[in-house]
Amino acid sequence: MNDELAGFGVYIHWPFCLSKCPYCDFNSHVRHAVIDEERFARAFTAEIAATAERVPGRTVSTIFFGGGTPSLMQPATIAAVLDAVARHWQVAPDAEITLEANPTSVEAARFRGYRTAGVNRVSLGVQALDDRALGALGRLHSAREALDAVAIARSVFERYSFDLIYARPQQTPQQWAEELTRALAEAGEHLSLYQLTIEAETPFATLHAAGKLITPNDDTARALYDTTQEVCAARGLPAYEISNHARPGSECRHNLVYWRAQEYAGVGPGAHGRLDIDGSRHATATEKRPEAWLQRVERDGHGLITDDVLTREEMADEFLLMGLRLAEGIDPARYVALMNRPLDPTRIAALREHGLIETTAEGRLRVSMPGFPVLDAVVADLAA
Ligand SMILES: C[S@@+](CC[C@H](N)C(=O)[O-])C[C@H]1O[C@@H](n2cnc3c(N)ncnc32)[C@H](O)[C@@H]1O
Ligand code: SF4
Repeated sequence: MNDELAGFGVYIHWPFCLSKCPYCDFNSHVRHAVIDEERFARAFTAEIAATAERVPGRTVSTIFFGGGTPSLMQPATIAAVLDAVARHWQVAPDAEITLEANPTSVEAARFRGYRTAGVNRVSLGVQALDDRALGALGRLHSAREALDAVAIARSVFERYSFDLIYARPQQTPQQWAEELTRALAEAGEHLSLYQLTIEAETPFATLHAAGKLITPNDDTARALYDTTQEVCAARGLPAYEISNHARPGSECRHNLVYWRAQEYAGVGPGAHGRLDIDGSRHATATEKRPEAWLQRVERDGHGLITDDVLTREEMADEFLLMGLRLAEGIDPARYVALMNRPLDPTRIAALREHGLIETTAEGRLRVSMPGFPVLDAVVADLAA
């Protein structure tokens, strides 16, 4: 993986879902009225134009439609957004253009339309290959339907990935190894495997607090994590990031833009961006509520509500927080360039002694296998 500093990503947020999953705290909303997609397409186009005025002349290396559920969008809406991106920036001929999809038959029926619009990679939220678990997660699809959607994705797109959630209530490492092995038989080049997180203010948080939803204890969670690493590595899909696995060379380039602290534009309700303008790094965020975002864009030409210039310390912390999630780790010289000083050698020595971090032959600093389950603590220690 080269091009540490190159890369300009465009993230487009579609904020609607058919129903709200009880574990999810993403900016996603359920609407019973029909969504006026043409109005959204006009607003996306306006916000892309406004962003391109601030960061002109970029070459877009990746575009990502995330959500919410972007696979509820009409292919014509996707095409309109991609046209707008291409009118305002150069799009690299080999740009990665990903769309997140929920694996229902209705959505899979639109895959060809997305392909024609220019999407070349799809990421499916399969979540589990067990119908009881899918029911408990509040999903609207069965395992069979999800696998059918994966098969359609495989036949339509050059690249596809799917997500599973593990460390679910009552899940044992043996069950997970078996489910993951079945998943790997259906996987292509990439899989995202997330440990269930109990997010505040979700129905799962309420159940968890009431003792009605019991997640695996630390030892079981650790065993589930270790199983994940072993099973995936044995099948040629090692982790390149704490929750993401790929055949080497098939990583999600858009997510690498975030983790390598490169530049990206955030478009749509509640989207975040990092823009490099006149030597300063701007952290941007837009209005989260979809209708309020539309009104702002229609009034002001953009939905920005936050546009903060990051301090050196903030940039350095973010660089560590994001970069140390990657198996490739970080280039310590980039930290020096940001902070005018190296990382604290005493802290590095202590973490190395505990086997939590290591330095590669090329001089990169990375978290070791035993360090990943305690990544937050390692980053907090280094950033302190
Ligand atoms: C933003 S969601 C969008 C994907 C799509 N709407 C779907 O649900 O299939 C991206 C992924 O985040 C993961 N995710 C969301 N909430 C999570 C949680 N509380 N714990 C673990 N993973 C979570 C799921 O695997 C999901 O596929
Ligand atoms: S997990 Fe996906 S489908 Fe479920 S509410 Fe969140 S974004 Fe929507």
